[in-house]
Amino acid sequence: MKEELKKMREEALSRLKNAGSLDELEELRVGYLGKKGKMTAILREMGKLPAEERPVMGQLANQVRADIESCLGEVKKDLEEKAMEKRLEEETIDVTIPGKKVNLGHRHPMYIALDQVKEIFVGMGFDIIDGPEIELAEYNFDRLNAPEGHPSRDWSDTFYFDTDSRVMLRSQTSPMQVHAMETRKPPIRVVAPGRVYRKDEVDATHSPMFHQIEGLVIDKGITMADLKGTLNTVVESLYGKGTKTRFRPHHFPFTEPSCELDVQCHECGGVGCRVCKGEGWIELLGAGMVHPRVLEMSGIDPEVYSGWAFGIGLERMAMRRFNITDMRLIFENNIRFLEQF
Ligand code: PHE
Repeated sequence: MKEELKKMREEALSRLKNAGSLDELEELRVGYLGKKGKMTAILREMGKLPAEERPVMGQLANQVRADIESCLGEVKKDLEEKAMEKRLEEETIDVTIPGKKVNLGHRHPMYIALDQVKEIFVGMGFDIIDGPEIELAEYNFDRLNAPEGHPSRDWSDTFYFDTDSRVMLRSQTSPMQVHAMETRKPPIRVVAPGRVYRKDEVDATHSPMFHQIEGLVIDKGITMADLKGTLNTVVESLYGKGTKTRFRPHHFPFTEPSCELDVQCHECGGVGCRVCKGEGWIELLGAGMVHPRVLEMSGIDPEVYSGWAFGIGLERMAMRRFNITDMRLIFENNIRFLEQF
């Protein structure tokens, strides 16, 4: 048994010293000192020895165990140091390598223009509100005084979800007028920017998805003069002091009277050119005094209150603001285009 212990010590020490990794070392430790290890097996045999031999063998066994343990400790420390060295070597950073270029995006010209408009309206005490793009025809049409059969409800212009034409992609931001009247009490002053959808072919001035910003004011004693004053202020802060506007009579089912606002062409100053198609003016928005029936349908007494509303096409507004001549550029998001603004 003595021989056996000594032989095991020699073997263990030499194998430990040759261990190549911490995993291998742990395997060896379990193999010798673990519950099912060789050391334990030998100690178990000790019970069979004559009583007088036991203390001597016990001492030797303890010594062997201590030797193995101390060797384990040393080799472990060694391997750990080597592992650390290797890691440090691998993780060295070469600070002289040139960095990767980070491509930052660029703010979109339409949102630059939108933020500017928002700021103007917030400055005048308006709230900015948001609403659904998937809309009920009830809000997009009925409660805006465009009853069943009205030409604007036609399937050829509108994206409906159902065969009864009740659920749709909103074709204008005007349903936000109804949402505002439903959730707020006069005085109401809101603007509502967002996407709208129409079955239009893509060309230089059309897209099946585009953006509008709706405005609505309702209070006592509101007149067309308030509408003109407010919109002229907006046009001047967008396009410069002294920019001329023209209010032209028009028709919308939800306003009476209705008008369209034209801005004098920035390119030719009103003489007529390619940009304004010879008109001298560029159409910017539709507006008007909120129809008494629209007020009534949303529970506001038209005998007490009056109001005005407008809807601006945002793409067109940004195009006029930054002299962009093709609407498709607005949606392509080519960084070389965007970086110009
Ligand atoms: N909704 C109208 C359009 O899309 C614009 C508009 C809004 C007109 C508000 C009058 C009042 O053309």
